[in-house]
Amino acid sequence: MSGSNAGAWDAYWQKAIKVGFHNKEAEHREIEQFWRQFFTCQFEQQSRTVILELACGKGAVSEIAHQCLEKSSICQPPNQNAEIEVRHYCLDYSLAAVKNTLEKPGLEGGIVADAAALPLKNNSADLVFSQFGIEYAGRKALLNAAKIVKPGGRLAAIIHHANGLIYQHSKCSVKALERVMQTDIFPLARRAFTAGFEVLNGNTGQETFVRADSDMSVAVKQITALLKQQGPSVADGIILQFYRDLGDMFNRLQVFEAKDIANWLNNMEDDFSSHLQRMQSMLDAACDKEAMAFECQQLTAEGLSIEHCEEIASHQGILGWKLIAKA
Ligand SMILES: C[S@@+](CC[C@H](N)C(=O)[O-])C[C@H]1O[C@@H](n2cnc3c(N)ncnc32)[C@H](O)[C@@H]1O
Repeated sequence: MSGSNAGAWDAYWQKAIKVGFHNKEAEHREIEQFWRQFFTCQFEQQSRTVILELACGKGAVSEIAHQCLEKSSICQPPNQNAEIEVRHYCLDYSLAAVKNTLEKPGLEGGIVADAAALPLKNNSADLVFSQFGIEYAGRKALLNAAKIVKPGGRLAAIIHHANGLIYQHSKCSVKALERVMQTDIFPLARRAFTAGFEVLNGNTGQETFVRADSDMSVAVKQITALLKQQGPSVADGIILQFYRDLGDMFNRLQVFEAKDIANWLNNMEDDFSSHLQRMQSMLDAACDKEAMAFECQQLTAEGLSIEHCEEIASHQGILGWKLIAKA
């Protein structure tokens, strides 16, 4: 079920918005140019329009849409009566993502819903668009999105490519995070910290602590080797950050409270599993050539005409699939 990752995404967006980090993997000049050209062209053709971004995340594409709209309003010849009026909505199953997108200019409303079961009427939007989002909702999601597009309107999407740069990055992250989890670092660290605090508080002798420390150091060595092999930025740097903090806390145990360390370990373990879940859901969502051919077939059978269905790439490699279909 596509909604099973909603918690992991919401946790991600809550944190991402709070600390202001962004997903560099998904931000490329070529993709941004594609959207700018696409929206500029769309807004020239239709002056009154309802537009909807699906799986909007922090609303990066909605922001581009709004900028293009502003430009096209300025460019309207003064004698042309057609006032540009766009009703702009966004949808995501993360509340944090929708809230953040709604803070951007031009947005009229937000919907928190699973894109696999859109709570929207057929033929209700002129333009439905998505970037690295709709495909997470399963193989029927594009077809369902197409149904809400009015005749003459468009569905446009940038979709994860099963041989693209983001896919490769996510695959490395998944492997690395799985390897860290397999070291049992979290239970071993809990034991070592607990034993350390017992010694500090004078409750036990050194023996239990020495054993727990030595067990944990086996896991730490495995993580050191992994970071050497994969580089410090693997899994978006979360392994390195954890590794450093773990060492720092363990070496300065006396300045920490046992309950704070226990909370920190629980939070880190949750972070790792939610990162793993998000990355794995990206791998599952990515489309290869056959999957894209299937998507296009479904859309054609629904009566849409496929205007574009091709790879979008930079000099570094494949970024995704570009799909534009007209209803
Ligand atoms: C990789 S992010 C992309 C976000 C944004 N479109 C962008 O390009 O920055 C994927 C987004 O899809 C959303 N998402 C995943 N599955 C979804 C579903 N079934 N229904 C609605 N949103 C979903 C996630 O919450 C997340 O915001």
